[in-house]
Amino acid sequence: KQIAFDCALVTEYMMQHELEQMAPKVRQAHDMLSAGTGPGGKHTGWIRWPEVYNRAEYARIKRTGETIRNRAEAFIVIGIGGSYLGARAAIEMLCPAFYNQWSRACRKAPEVYFAGHQMSASYTANLLRLIEEKEVYINVISKSGTTLEPALAFRLFRELLEKRYGKEGARKRIIVTTDNTHSPLKKIAEREGYETFGIPDNIGGRYAVLTSVGLLPMAVAGIDVDTVLAGAADAVRLCGTPDVDGNPAYRYAALRRLFYDKGKTIELLASYEPGLRYVAEWWKQLFGESEGKDGKGIFPASLHFSTDFHSMGQYVQEGRRDLFMTTLWVEALREQITVPQMADDTDGLGYLSGVSLHEMNRKACEGAMLAHTQGGVPNLRIIVPEATPYYFGQLVYFFEKACGISGYLFGVNPFDQPGVEAYKRNMFRLLGKPKTM
Ligand code: PA5
Repeated sequence: KQIAFDCALVTEYMMQHELEQMAPKVRQAHDMLSAGTGPGGKHTGWIRWPEVYNRAEYARIKRTGETIRNRAEAFIVIGIGGSYLGARAAIEMLCPAFYNQWSRACRKAPEVYFAGHQMSASYTANLLRLIEEKEVYINVISKSGTTLEPALAFRLFRELLEKRYGKEGARKRIIVTTDNTHSPLKKIAEREGYETFGIPDNIGGRYAVLTSVGLLPMAVAGIDVDTVLAGAADAVRLCGTPDVDGNPAYRYAALRRLFYDKGKTIELLASYEPGLRYVAEWWKQLFGESEGKDGKGIFPASLHFSTDFHSMGQYVQEGRRDLFMTTLWVEALREQITVPQMADDTDGLGYLSGVSLHEMNRKACEGAMLAHTQGGVPNLRIIVPEATPYYFGQLVYFFEKACGISGYLFGVNPFDQPGVEAYKRNMFRLLGKPKTM
């Protein structure tokens, strides 16, 4: 089985000939992406990564992951943007809900927390307090090694570990994931003797979830990373052909572009599983940072149903018609809950007795897709057979490939993020950062 891309509901918004006219542009984008001749072509190492990843480093990731899994009570992933979203997406999608609240014996892995993805004093102080009595390991992840948020968090957690365990004890509990050559973090790691994992030069932050960036935290959480990579490797083939008809990622990219040309400039990624919340966050970063430049790009937003039917649902149905929706649907769940039979039917739910919640969610999804389509919001759907490591790997690669192609269809460089510097310049000036740094 594979993830499936379903565009059956968009026929009234899109003529077949419009898609056919996109085909040569998609092929041209494919050629540039594959040959690395387009803008940012130096950063296309992720395309073949699931097949060519460094086996020796990978074996070390698994060993270190297992050591931490066995020894740590709390594992802190320090990173921001592409340096944490993929790992968080995987953990939230693949580990049971309320993962951190399960007993260690049940989880067979440490609690996992994230830091360095913002600068909130209250979040950081509470996290520091929460892990006071726990055996802690940290993985600081920063490709550049210069990003302020994770650098600050690393200082704080490093200080905590050194105070608690001494320099030697801290050394065993700090793992650094960073650029192999240019990063100041690499220099700190070498000086202090921390275990280090590299991030390939030719893979940018938001395309790095299948490298050590995402794989080590996944391994610590007990996710089967072999299967994640196997899913991604199969997706390399699934999303490999240059034609729109045979390649679901390209079909998705082409349709998004056609919607954009028709004024549908906002894409809503809708999911029905709370475990997919961070897949949506990862997806927003991937597409938002890759496409949103030169005054162009689809604005990526996310909705979580059925919760958001009672919040944003009204807007989607009747607000401005500049939206299209992509539903991320998980076909089969491990857990099943059915509505209980009760003698008393005062709540009026007797007609649902014996029906599973997932079936009801499915009907809500089908009903909403139809209603939104009729209300002027075209709906695409990505069907994920199950929330497993294999399909997580497929999904990641599917979106990465679609995003790379989509960037080229927009005529932008999908692998840089020059706009991110603007806030930094102002912030550093306001903080009085010395000019030489
Ligand atoms: O996609 C990207 O390159 C960015 O979102 C980075 O991942 C993010 O800015 C963090 O950068 P770094 O890993 O260098 O700390």
